[in-house]
This record gives sequence, C-alpha cells and structure tokens, in this order.
Amino acid sequence: MKRKYALDRARAQASDVLAATGLVAADAMTLVEPKPNIPADLAFPIFAAAKSAGANPADFARRVADAVTLPADSLLGAVEAADGFVNIHFAPERFARAVLDDVFSADDAYGRDAGIGAEQTLVVEFSSPNIARKMHVGHLRTTVIGNSLRNILVALGYRVITDNHLGDWGTQFGSLLAAHALWGWPPQMETDPVEALVQIYARFHAAAEADPALRDLARQWFKRLESGDEAARATWKQLVKITLEEFDRTYQRLNITFDTTHGESFYEPMLESVVREAIDKGVARVEADGAVSVGFGEALPSYLLQKSDGATLYQTRDVATCLYRWHEYAPARNIYVVGQEQTLHFQQVFETVRRMGYPEIADRSVHISFGAVTDVGGQRFSMRRGTAIFLDEVLDEAVARARQTIGEKMAEGKTELSEAEQETTAEIIGIGAIIYNDLYQGPERGIRFDWDKLLSFEGNTALYIQYTHARCRSILRKADLSPLGRAGDFNAALLTTPEEQAVLKQLARLPHALREAGEKFLPALIAEWTYNLAREFARFYHEHPVLDAATPELRQARLGLVQAVGQGLRNGLALLGIRAPERM
Ligand code: ARG
Repeated sequence: MKRKYALDRARAQASDVLAATGLVAADAMTLVEPKPNIPADLAFPIFAAAKSAGANPADFARRVADAVTLPADSLLGAVEAADGFVNIHFAPERFARAVLDDVFSADDAYGRDAGIGAEQTLVVEFSSPNIARKMHVGHLRTTVIGNSLRNILVALGYRVITDNHLGDWGTQFGSLLAAHALWGWPPQMETDPVEALVQIYARFHAAAEADPALRDLARQWFKRLESGDEAARATWKQLVKITLEEFDRTYQRLNITFDTTHGESFYEPMLESVVREAIDKGVARVEADGAVSVGFGEALPSYLLQKSDGATLYQTRDVATCLYRWHEYAPARNIYVVGQEQTLHFQQVFETVRRMGYPEIADRSVHISFGAVTDVGGQRFSMRRGTAIFLDEVLDEAVARARQTIGEKMAEGKTELSEAEQETTAEIIGIGAIIYNDLYQGPERGIRFDWDKLLSFEGNTALYIQYTHARCRSILRKADLSPLGRAGDFNAALLTTPEEQAVLKQLARLPHALREAGEKFLPALIAEWTYNLAREFARFYHEHPVLDAATPELRQARLGLVQAVGQGLRNGLALLGIRAPERM
C-alpha cells in the first residue's frame, strides 16, 4: 500500500469533488500543478472535457466550478473557473494541520513510503575502487551518488543490496606479486602502505619497459595466482587487506557501508563456464590465436572475453557479475554507478548478456553514469601530483577549510560551539560540503570544484542548509520547549500568511521529490528540495517573528513550523548522506 501524504490526499479530494459534479468523467481527470505565476494549488485543464461535452470552454469551466461542493473537512478551500482551467485552492488552515500532522507523525521517517518498493530487490553497485591504488576524485562521485541512491531507495521500501565491486583481480596483480618476489616491500609499507604499493607497481612498470622478460614474470605470477598457488594467494590477500583498511577509513568518514564487497576475484570460479556458454551460444568466437572475442556486427565495437594466453579480462568478470546478481537476487534493477567513460563497456556487457539468451537480465541492468570532476581555477588541485587527485586529500582539505571557517566565527563570537564540538563539526561541515557539491549539480555534466563556493554560508551549499537547520534547533532551544511541542499541542490553523503557507507547501513536497528521485535515480532532486525548503524558511523568518510573535498561541504555532522545518532539513540531508549538527 502506498502512503497518502497531504498532497496525495488533496489531489484525491480534488478528483472526487470534480467527479461528483457529474460533468467530468472520472477517467478524464488529469490534475496539474499550475504554472508558478498562477495563484492556485492544483488546476484541472478544461479543454478536453469541454470538447467532449460539446460546450464552450469558458462556460464549461464556470459550470464545473459552480457545481462543486466541498465537504466541511476538505483540504480544499475554493474552486474557481479560470482561463482554460478550473483552479483549485487548498484551505490554508486545514492544509497546515495536515502537513504538520504528516511530519510529526513520522519525524525521521517523514517523506518515506515503504509501499513503493515493497517486495522488490535492487542491487546498487557503487564506489568499486581498485586494490593497490588510492581512491581518486572519480571514485568520489560514484561513492557519493551511489550512497545517496541507496538511502533514497531504502526510504522507498526497496530491499537494496549494495555491492562494492573492488578491482582486485587482473594481470596487474601479477606485476605486484612479481615485484614483491624481486624486491620485497619497500620501507614505506609501514607508514603509507597503499602509497608503497602504488610506487612498487610504478617501479616494476618502468623496469619492464627496459626488460620485457619481466612481463613474462608478471604473467607467470598471475597464472600462479589464478591456479591457486598458496604463496601467490597469501601475498595477494595481504594486498587486498592493506588497501581495504585504507578504503574503510574513508568510508567511515563518509558514513558508508556495503552489504557485499564482492571484488572481481569473487567471479573467478564462474568465468570458465561463462566463456564456454558464450562460445556455445555463438555469441563469442575463438580466434586463430586462441583468444575469444565477442562481436556485434555494426551495432557495437567488438571486445575480448579471453586473451590468447587464457587470461580473462575486466569484461569477462562483468558478464559473470551481471548473471550472478540475477541468479542470486533476481533484482528488479541491477544498477551500476560508474563514470561515463565506461558507457561503451556496459553497453557491451549488457548486449552480451542479451545475446546469450537473457534479455530480461539485460533490460533490468542500468548504468548510471556521471561526468568528470573539473577544477575551476582551483589552484593547488590538479598540480600537486600530476593529474591524480586523491579522495582523502580532498576530504582533508575540506575539513581544514571548515575548521578555519569555524575558527573565524569563534573569533567573532558568532558560534555556539564549544571547543570540543569544533572538531567534529568541522568534519561534518567539510565532508557535507564535498558530498553536496557533488549531488546538487546532477550527474550528467561534470562537476566543478570551487573551494570558496562549496564552503560558503550563502547559496546552494550544504553549509547553508546545515546552518538553517542549526538555526531552527537554536530557536527551539531558546523557546525552552521540553518536551518540544507536537502538532497536536499548537494551533496549526494560525499559519496562514503567504510565507508560512509557502514553507508548508515545500514541506509537503518531500514525499513527491523522494518518489521522483527514486524513479529517476536522481539524488539531485532531493538536494533541490532541501535547498528550497531552507530558502522558503529564510523568507518566512525574515518576515515574521517567532519567539516574539504577537500572541502566545501564534508563537507556539510558529515554533511548531520551525520544528517541522528542522525535521525536514534533517531528513533531506540524511537522504543525501549528510549529517546535520544541532548547533553551529
Ligand atoms: N574498478 C573500476 C574503476 O575503478 C570500476 C568498476 C566499475 N564496476 C564494474 N562492475 N565494472 O575504474
């Protein structure tokens, strides 16, 4: 059962009263949200109905509006004919109460709707960095988008399986094992182990340029690893462990966990039969040199499923992964959050699966892609180490800048934070800024990194939203409500000014933004909703006193609104994977 929030109920009531006039067929009822310049909450376009009634549209709109009768407890307040539409207005008092009842009956769960995804499983694969490498900013995007998507889909009642598809297999591990056999680990292994691995790999690569025999050595080591050689496996396991420890620290900072971390190696036992099946079904063919290739005619470029020396590839493992997830979970969608440079790769993988006789699996597999991270005159960013920018450095830099900002506010006496709270708050603000900067810009285009902008108190930033949330909490603390008032404890019907109603309408839209974000796999819609709530709140707060409201009843009602806004902002941020501090 899908949940009915205030706007759902208002819509249903509007359909009912229009149908009850007997002038409009219930199945011809489409209600739209009017354009921003039209002062109405819902609109019914009249032309089609007028046409089938053989009536003049303006007359017909008037007849329909006149024929409407509203029940006493309706969320609707007025129905009137307008140009081409019947316009419908909510009843401000009852609408206010309905929205705040919705918020306060659910609190942290406000906006959720377990009925949407009930009994459907989704696999969401994201992050998927490579072992013996550092995570770079490209992994930041998949990690942040994937995690928010997970939160959104869980809030919609789906059973979500998150998987981290680690790059932990492939010939590069042959190089690392060979390098280890030749030279042992460098001393840096004690202090910065992943950096040490990156360096020994680079050293091996350079040495192999000069001495091609090293390439054979690397191949031999990968063969040993593939065939289960104990020494090779032990060293490889060590590499995985070392790197995962570093990744886990980053995931902890971002507050991210995975249900499974099946690296590419997990699929190793399935590869032989996948290659076999592809050949048997005529999807792949054995070349003269023994390599196995998949061709698609004109449709897509061909690729290799197996090298001539029998080694499998990244592609092979992805074909196996796609089939495995289907057999294991039968997901309604198998989602890959991966950068757009891999678009062709996923087209090839899904098309292979389709041609192997599994069109349903291919149809349910989705590549959510995103553009690259670019630097807008961001001075130190791209230069520091060639073009690689590491994720931890970005997070550290953001936290350092947040710390400085807080320090400045302290010096000006403009913060409520204690010394002890400063550090945790800097972490929350810095990391929140990075996550938000990534999510609000939407995935298609690349995102821009502008340090000053993304850590600004003004504009579309996490900090602006977090600050608005902290302000709501601060107002409630000053009001000294304990326990805090609930919707039942105050008279929501007093909240009828345009600014109050605008806040309420924005609050009411969260469930709808959430459903749309889930349908389109688009966390940016939640960022947009949250930001707009903060803005509506600012407009309200600018116009209307809360603590000094004209009457105690009005003060109490506005405090209820403030509490609801704080809750809404917290819920929006939580869906994005961002924390909201109590005070700032
Ligand atoms: N490990 C790859 C990289 O860092 C991304 C893996 C994406 N997922 C997949 N199923 N191929 O570029």
